[in-house]
Amino acid sequence: MEEVDHQEFVQEPQHRPSLSTIEAQGIPVIDLSPITSNNTSPSAIDALTKEIGSACKEWGFFQVTNHGVPLSLKRNLLEASKKFFSQSLEDKKKVSRDESSPSGYYESEYTKDVRDWKEVFDFFAKEPTLFPATIDEHNHRVVQWTNKYPHYPPAFRDIIQEYIEEMEKLAYKLMELIAMSLGLEAKRFERFFIRGQTSFIRLNYYPPCSFPHLALGVGPHKDESALTILAQDEVEGLEVKRKTNQEWIRVKPKSNDYIINLGDIIQVWSNDRYESVEHRAMVNCESERFSIPYFFFPAHDTEVKPLEELINDQNPPKYRPYKSGKFLLYRMINDFKKQNKDNLQIHDYKLA
Ligand code: OGA
Ligand code: NI
Repeated sequence: MEEVDHQEFVQEPQHRPSLSTIEAQGIPVIDLSPITSNNTSPSAIDALTKEIGSACKEWGFFQVTNHGVPLSLKRNLLEASKKFFSQSLEDKKKVSRDESSPSGYYESEYTKDVRDWKEVFDFFAKEPTLFPATIDEHNHRVVQWTNKYPHYPPAFRDIIQEYIEEMEKLAYKLMELIAMSLGLEAKRFERFFIRGQTSFIRLNYYPPCSFPHLALGVGPHKDESALTILAQDEVEGLEVKRKTNQEWIRVKPKSNDYIINLGDIIQVWSNDRYESVEHRAMVNCESERFSIPYFFFPAHDTEVKPLEELINDQNPPKYRPYKSGKFLLYRMINDFKKQNKDNLQIHDYKLA
């Protein structure tokens, strides 16, 4: 990172992390073998659906094992990411994100107006990805975004594309389980993603930090996605806000697992039956840390609103409809620089 004003990384006292670990029950670990192995029984899928349903309801976060994604893909991508970020700032800036496309490298992102102690590289899962040109609701112009790829290490493009394909398969499977757990038909969500999804993947690099009690790698936030699949290395850092008592719970890295969290879009689709849960990433003095979230997003023109099957007279819609792409664009623009005002949040779409 460049010589920077450290003050802008300092969190408000109520957001500063506690460095002592609370040994608490962790997030649920769910074995996906009923949908990834050959000999599957309907009763096993039924049990899995129930397990997913209660994890979504009680936590909004869970870990998955036996997910079918080869371990080598994650290893290769973490390795490539490490090589990329180990370069000089000057070399990394050759593939900087700019106004023409939000894909690329950048080292100053703000979460709720406090700077994150991290560096990042974003890629769109589909090329090109169609997006609204502006956040103006009345402007219907659309732009095409393409990716920047690092020049080093050389095989980056292949590694990331292979990884994205596997993430997409896993995301569709998880969405089926989530749909069934809500009493919907398995493919209920597919239509929103099949054409024009705006999913993207992010390489997060958290350098060691000499004041980990004051700063955060990523400040507390909820993901705007439908769901997020997170890979992390063996260094701890991710914390999840437990719904029952608002306590921050550390997520222990397990080498072959993925961490799944629900995003704002599922919260709206399910009319608050499932909530998008707040999380953050801590940094530490000694070790660098790498993580790779895959954010699964529908097509930009998807009108996100509570699903009609899940509303009725007793349970009327809690949100007004919004366009997926406009909301995401708004947040992407805002996180890019300090705004000195509150960012748009999903609760801003809440009906009184
Ligand atoms: C994110 C995020 C957590 C982590 O990038 O949205 O929540 O552990 N990252 O890196
Ligand atoms: Ni997140």
